[in-house]
Amino acid sequence: MRLDPISLYDYEARAKHVLPHNNWVFVEAGAMDERTTARNRAAFEALTLRPRFLRDTTERKTATTVLGTDISFPVMIAPTDAHLNAHPEAERATVRGAGMSGTLMMCSTSSNCSMEEIAEAATGPLWFQLSHRGYDLTENLVKRAEAAGFKAIVVTIDAPFPTPKERDIRNRYERPGEYGNFREQQARIAATGEARDWEMPQSPPIMWRDLEWLRSLTDLPLVLKGLRVAEDARLAVEHGVDAIQVSTHGGRRFDDTMSSIEMVPEIVAATQGRVEVYVDSGVRRGSDVLKALALGATAVAIGRPLYWGLAVNGAEGVHHMLEILREEFNRAMAYCGQSSVADLEDRLLNIPRDWGPFRTENDISDHLPFVRGGEEA
Ligand SMILES: Cc1cc2nc3c(=O)[nH]c(=O)nc-3n(C[C@H](O)[C@H](O)[C@H](O)COP(=O)(O)O)c2cc1C
Repeated sequence: MRLDPISLYDYEARAKHVLPHNNWVFVEAGAMDERTTARNRAAFEALTLRPRFLRDTTERKTATTVLGTDISFPVMIAPTDAHLNAHPEAERATVRGAGMSGTLMMCSTSSNCSMEEIAEAATGPLWFQLSHRGYDLTENLVKRAEAAGFKAIVVTIDAPFPTPKERDIRNRYERPGEYGNFREQQARIAATGEARDWEMPQSPPIMWRDLEWLRSLTDLPLVLKGLRVAEDARLAVEHGVDAIQVSTHGGRRFDDTMSSIEMVPEIVAATQGRVEVYVDSGVRRGSDVLKALALGATAVAIGRPLYWGLAVNGAEGVHHMLEILREEFNRAMAYCGQSSVADLEDRLLNIPRDWGPFRTENDISDHLPFVRGGEEA
C-alpha cells in the first residue's frame, strides 16, 4: 500500500514525478547559479530551537492576525503565477485548498484565472499581489481588487526587470494558459498586434515616489514584498506602508544575496513594531515557521510547496500540504514549551555566530528582540 505524503518533501518528490519536465523546472528553478535558492534552506537549517519541558502545553493556540485578517495558523500562500503549470483548475483549486485550511492566499497579477474568478471560488481571505504595469493598468488592477473584496495590496518590488531563469531558457519553457487579469488587453493585441504590456512593464518599474500615488487609489493596506535591507525598511515606514514581506522571491530573480530569513532580524530592528513583518523563501517545515516567529516575523508565506500539493491532488493536495505544516508547527510549539502564537517567549533560538549579516555576538543581540533579554531558567 502506498503511504500518503507525510512531509512537504514527499509532495515535492511526487510532484516531480507527475509534472511535465518543463513545468517542474519552471516551478523549482532559481536565478543563475541558484545559490540564493539553496541559501534560503541552509539558513533555516542552521538555526536550532531551544526545547523547554515540564510545562502544560496541552492547549495550543496557533491562530493569528495579519493586517486585521484572522488566519488559523501563521502560514499564508505566497503569490505565484500560472497555476495551470500544476493543475487544470489552476488558482481556483489553490484558493479552495487555502480556504479549507483557514488561511489566506495572495493572488498574483499574472494568474491564469482572473482575480474575480479566484474571488468567486474563495472561501477564505484574499490579498492581491500587484506587479506595476504602468499607471493605467495598475490603477485598473487595484480598483478591481478592491471591488472584488481583496483585503490588501501586496506590491512586489523585487522583480523590476525581466530575468528569465537559465534552465527555462534552455528548456524553451512556454507558459501555459492565459493571463486571466488581462483578457481585454489580450483581445486588443490579438486584433492590433500591440505590445504585450501586461507581461512585463513597458514603463519604468515602481519607485518610492509612486507609493503616494498608489495610496491615493485605495484604502486597502499596502504590503511591500521583496524588501531586504534596513535602509529600505526605514523608508517603507516613512512612506506609510502597513507591512513588509521579506522575500528573495524564492531566489528566482537575482542570485548571490542573503537568504530571506537572515534579513528578518535587521528588518524587525529597523521597523520597531511600526509595520508587520512577514517572510517567505525556503519555508518547508513547521519548525521553520517557529524560527521565523522567534526572529520577530508575524507570519510566513510559502511558494513552491503549493504547486507540489496542486500537482499531486489539486485543492485537497494544497489543503493536506498545509495541514502537514500546521501539525509540524504545532509540535514544534509544544516541544519548545509554547502555548500561544500571540505570546511566544524570548530565547527560542540558538543562532550560530556566523549566521546572517552579523559579525559579533553583540551585533546579534542588538538586532534580535527575542534572543536578547530573556532570563535563563
Ligand atoms: C513558480 C513561481 C511563480 C512565482 N510567481 C510570482 C509572482 O507572480 N509574483 C510574486 O510576487 N512572486 C512570485 N513568486 C515568488 C513567491 O511569491 C515567493 O516569494 C517564493 O516562492 C517563496 O519561496 P519558496 O518557493 O521557497 O517558498 C513565484 C514563485 C514561484 C515558485
